Amino acid sequence: MKILLLGSGGREHALARALAADPVTDELLVAPGNPGTAAIATNVALDINDPGAVAGFAASRKVDLVVVGPEAPLVAGVADAVAAVGIAVFGPSAEAARLEGSKAFAKEIMAAAGVPTAMARVCTTLDEVRDAMDSFGAPHVIKADGLAAGKGVVVTSDAVEALAHAATCLVRTGEDEPRVVVEDYLDGPEVSLFCVCDGVDVVPLVPAQDFKRALDGDAGPNTGGMGAYSPLPWAGEDLTDEVLRRVARPVLREMAGRGTPFTGVLYCGLALTSRGLRVVEFNVRFGDPETQVVVPRLRTPLAGLLYSAARGRLSTADEPRWSRGAAVTVVVAAEGYPGTVRSGDPVTGIEEAEALEGVHVIHAGTRRDDDGALVSSGGRVLCVVGQGESLDAARARAYEGVARIRLAGSHHRGDIAANVDSVSIPS
Ligand code: GLY
Repeated sequence: MKILLLGSGGREHALARALAADPVTDELLVAPGNPGTAAIATNVALDINDPGAVAGFAASRKVDLVVVGPEAPLVAGVADAVAAVGIAVFGPSAEAARLEGSKAFAKEIMAAAGVPTAMARVCTTLDEVRDAMDSFGAPHVIKADGLAAGKGVVVTSDAVEALAHAATCLVRTGEDEPRVVVEDYLDGPEVSLFCVCDGVDVVPLVPAQDFKRALDGDAGPNTGGMGAYSPLPWAGEDLTDEVLRRVARPVLREMAGRGTPFTGVLYCGLALTSRGLRVVEFNVRFGDPETQVVVPRLRTPLAGLLYSAARGRLSTADEPRWSRGAAVTVVVAAEGYPGTVRSGDPVTGIEEAEALEGVHVIHAGTRRDDDGALVSSGGRVLCVVGQGESLDAARARAYEGVARIRLAGSHHRGDIAANVDSVSIPS
């Protein structure tokens, strides 16, 4: 099978490793890719947000399967254009991608499907935001309606900060009518569960937990994610079944009933609250960095699973099998992240880290300079992944790997997967 994978971050490097390792993969193209994917696949230059360009390229290269990594191409209609030229595509149509592209739309679907989620109000003025904040109380949860590259959500007890964020979202240009979603705060630990969907059927992957704040102890600003681990020993064994029954299947039925069936990853961002399971958000693609710990635990081929989903044949696909071991990833971020980052600094130590047993390094924000040297080129630069028999072993390996990496000014959290024994679901 010839596969075209779209994207250039850590998620795509992690997916590329698994796709390249699948015996059905004859050729793997990654657009635009990064130095990590260049080592295991062929990177190609392509505007991945241009539906016509992606479909034309895939057709001209006789690609069998297109896998879309990030959300922006999906919202732009890349999956529709690829499907229109008869090529299998793993990723939802633009209409179905609104589950991530509009928080208000996701709430509408959840209400129609009876999916448990936080109470919310969609606001178009600051007065409406103030009213909603008053009625829900602190902490305030303010979400931009549209895609915001990981900067759309603010959770704070500071009403001034909450209103300032809402004001920023309401003046955003390029949207017909900027909207803000104000939500009730959900207590309890968060879980990411990726559900592979073919429009009708759903195959769940294993749950993971992401660390969204920049600093140890869940302090500091929100980020795209500073680390992750899997499995989650504190989550009940029936969690995945409950998510399928109460969230994923009802959403699939609702989307199909509207004539916009969902194909791709339905990323269920969940909170396990004192009042039970609640959906925090949906994304329509694999999570980053959670993919870096979920995919290495997969013992069955990934390409075949994604192709089955893209072709609407999940019901006949082999059930995924999983390693009993654990995986932990720690993000090495550039100075300044998640604000303005410094880039162009040499990145070294990857080979030393990968010489350690059970350690591999994922490229997230790197590039080659004119001399071919590896330099930083983004906020999240590398993800160091440790695997082992237990979370403790995986964690120790990940941090041994991080200690080998050299990048001036870089920072990382020191507590990824450190307090797993004390995670509890509020009662
Ligand atoms: N790690 C959060 C996300 O992928 O959106």
